[in-house]
Amino acid sequence: MPRTIVIAGGAGFIGIAFTHLALEHYPEDRIVVFDKLTYASDIRALDDIRSSRYSFIRGDISSPGDVEGLFRREHPDIIVNLAAESHVDRSIEDPALFIRTNTEGPAVLMAAAVRHGLSRFHQVSTDEVYGDLPIEGDGSFSEDSPLRPSSPYSASKAAADQLALAFMRTYGLEVTVSRCCNCFGPHQHQEKFIPTIIASALSGHPVPIYGSGLNVREWITSADHARAILAILDRGRPGEIYNTGSGVRLSNIELAGMLLSILGRDRSLIRHTEDRKGHDRRYSISSEKIRQELGFVPQDSFIPSLEKTVAWYAARGLSSSSPDVL
Ligand SMILES: NC(=O)c1ccc[n+]([C@@H]2O[C@H](COP(=O)([O-])OP(=O)(O)OC[C@H]3O[C@@H](n4cnc5c(N)ncnc54)[C@H](O)[C@@H]3O)[C@@H](O)[C@H]2O)c1
Repeated sequence: MPRTIVIAGGAGFIGIAFTHLALEHYPEDRIVVFDKLTYASDIRALDDIRSSRYSFIRGDISSPGDVEGLFRREHPDIIVNLAAESHVDRSIEDPALFIRTNTEGPAVLMAAAVRHGLSRFHQVSTDEVYGDLPIEGDGSFSEDSPLRPSSPYSASKAAADQLALAFMRTYGLEVTVSRCCNCFGPHQHQEKFIPTIIASALSGHPVPIYGSGLNVREWITSADHARAILAILDRGRPGEIYNTGSGVRLSNIELAGMLLSILGRDRSLIRHTEDRKGHDRRYSISSEKIRQELGFVPQDSFIPSLEKTVAWYAARGLSSSSPDVL
């Protein structure tokens, strides 16, 4: 029996990768992208989809009217929620928007899911909900680590994770949660770390790095993140959280250096700027559970994927007249 899978936030950076993959991986199912189309989205990236099994609906996950309309029209079996405000700096400027989108939004979706008897709700979350680790040391967060979010962004995501688990316990809604590390690949908004570095370097502008640049992030491709979500939908156990990482951990300054060298630019372009408020020092997650239980391992190799990513942005003439700071 064909199912209807709604991908909320399917026109965003990771949503685009997931939507293409889901259409290929589930050849019988209908795929509906539900997206508000904020500044961060790139709906043109879905223009090449020719399948009659695909449709798009513009709507807001935090609007009960939009969500009820979605359920009445599409009768979804599964929702994958990627819809979010995703930029930490913007959350520092406007926390209320992040709470509305990232916390109230999933609650509105899940309340409708309970009313309409949805069979699975997958909440896409982030490793940032765990907070950070000291720069020195080799510890990693597991799914059982306490949540200590540092920014309004990560706090709004942590609240949604807790709500998802509470909806399962209280209403019996079958939920899964994935907490992924930093992603890179095509279609990411220019304000984010890697596109900003590429844009600055291509324009010959200084490459801005917050503070010392020693902050460490773990990096995975958006395609591998999408593959991990599929593995969780297919084989994940309801009520479980799955960390999704690659083990590739780099300081911001190291990564900026790699990007500059791929672009053939000199490291002297790097400019250290005033640090981000509450800037997390080191992220590192253990992905043993998703590997052991679901057999998920990232497929993409880091350096070739980084080179492809640089080539993708360079081919689109990404450039910057006043780059954001990182
Ligand atoms: N990008 C990363 O490195 C990363 C890492 C881990 C987890 N995540 C999580 O993955 C998800 C997707 O991240 P992304 O980087 O693709 O984000 P993005 O900002 O590129 O895209 C978000 C998408 O959500 C849509 N959206 C925003 N508000 C909405 C609303 N109220 N209703 C419906 N749609 C709305 C936007 O239009 C956009 O298409 C987010 O939940 C994020 O927290 C991202």
